[in-house]
Amino acid sequence: MPKAPMQHVCSFCKRLVTIKNQYDMPIFDPQSGFAICKNCIEDIYHFLEAHEQETAEHEKKDFTDALATSLEKTKPHVVKEYLDKYIINQDHAKKILSVAVYNHYKRMKYGYEHSDGTEIEKSNVIMLGPSGCGKTALLSHLSQLLDIPFAVTDASSLTEAGFVGADVEVAVRNLYYAADKDIDRTEHGIIYLDEFDKIARKSGENNSITADPGHEGTQQALLKMLEGSIVEFTARGQRKHPEAPTIKVNTQNILFIVGGAFVGIDKIIEKRLQKSEASIGFGAKVEGENDKPKFDDLLRQVTPQDLMKYGIIPEIIGRLPVICTLETLDEDALLRILTEPVNAPVRQYQKLLEMDNVELEFDDAALRAVAKEAIKRKTGARSLKGIIEDVMLDIMFDIPRSDEPRIVRITEDCITKGAQPEIRPANKQDTPKKTKKTAAKTEE
Ligand SMILES: Nc1ncnc2c1ncn2[C@@H]1O[C@H](COP(=O)(O)OP(=O)(O)OP(=O)(O)O)[C@@H](O)[C@H]1O
Ligand SMILES: [Mg+2]
Ligand SMILES: [Zn+2]
Repeated sequence: MPKAPMQHVCSFCKRLVTIKNQYDMPIFDPQSGFAICKNCIEDIYHFLEAHEQETAEHEKKDFTDALATSLEKTKPHVVKEYLDKYIINQDHAKKILSVAVYNHYKRMKYGYEHSDGTEIEKSNVIMLGPSGCGKTALLSHLSQLLDIPFAVTDASSLTEAGFVGADVEVAVRNLYYAADKDIDRTEHGIIYLDEFDKIARKSGENNSITADPGHEGTQQALLKMLEGSIVEFTARGQRKHPEAPTIKVNTQNILFIVGGAFVGIDKIIEKRLQKSEASIGFGAKVEGENDKPKFDDLLRQVTPQDLMKYGIIPEIIGRLPVICTLETLDEDALLRILTEPVNAPVRQYQKLLEMDNVELEFDDAALRAVAKEAIKRKTGARSLKGIIEDVMLDIMFDIPRSDEPRIVRITEDCITKGAQPEIRPANKQDTPKKTKKTAAKTEE
């Protein structure tokens, strides 16, 4: 005699359900009698699915909306104006970066809105320029302006997996943290690889690869990233072991900007130019040592071939279609850097002393002397702060001994001959300093 089929009431819809197998009543607790039938579970599932789809669409829309606002804020001329507040000269580089960033936003927006098959390709940028001319500074200010995540990684610290140092994945991991661990944002961010010339094969194009295995490997690993691949990494501070949970990021849409001083590349360019001149019959015109074309003129003529000779593998160069060169800063530029940018060194020291009730004045001749000294040191704007710091140390040590309002004047002799700055009591009319032109605003 067949057993009577088991029946049970669904706690949810209260129907009496005939249970032929466990799927008719997927949730069933024999002890309490609590149960949910197949129909109800299906309904709940559809309900949740619809909700998830809706939020996903909503989030996507939020992202495109945000993009529209960002696009407005990152129009090339707006970006350049912002950079102008911090960086003197380098107009060409500012333009290239502004356009690169704007196009990056457009590309994102396009990707979210269109699917007609036209693919806008990324235009990764390579920047070349002498030491201390503002490469790192440009990019770090740019990163402060942008809404999309932006991370700077020192390429010279990167090595191929298995070597001592950081794996190339670190660059993406830095971006992931800059994106507050949001993968979607990470996948649309910008990575700046600083000191990129340091991973050139030291041997250059002609020598054997095996002479410099570490750097060649690093470049190969970076190439995969540049081409667009899934990069896998562990959370910060977590040791890499087979079971460690990993985060996966697709680098397809990440914009890469690389930069470096490429010391010595001018020689390579010059040699190539001389050769081509010789080959078209102007050999006799090759100039003597003194008429040597200036470094900047040479650098401006850099080609992918020169970069290859320098020791960057051709595949990487092919992925960096935009070449951007920066200029050497001359004395006048250095002079302006001392006072004009919102965070100019002179403004910073003025701000510091203002807190001690002291007004700091620099003679024009003193500032010019600082710029001249910086030119001698050949490290671009980098040495400016150090030169002033040397002069300011004693002042900053002694000034806080008293609360008296004073005026400190730095003269040319202070810079060139190590003379002591002039200190005099401030007159009543000299205060309050805030209304004076010299009491400049500082942002840092
Ligand atoms: N054109 C500039 N305008 C204003 N400040 C500048 C400029 N160039 C450099 N500086 C200042 O000089 C310092 C060094 O510049 P930066 O680090 O950008 O040099 P770099 O080009 O990256 O050189 P390197 O190739 O040696 O890394 C920074 O503090 C920066 O603020
Ligand atoms: Mg730098
Ligand atoms: Zn039910």
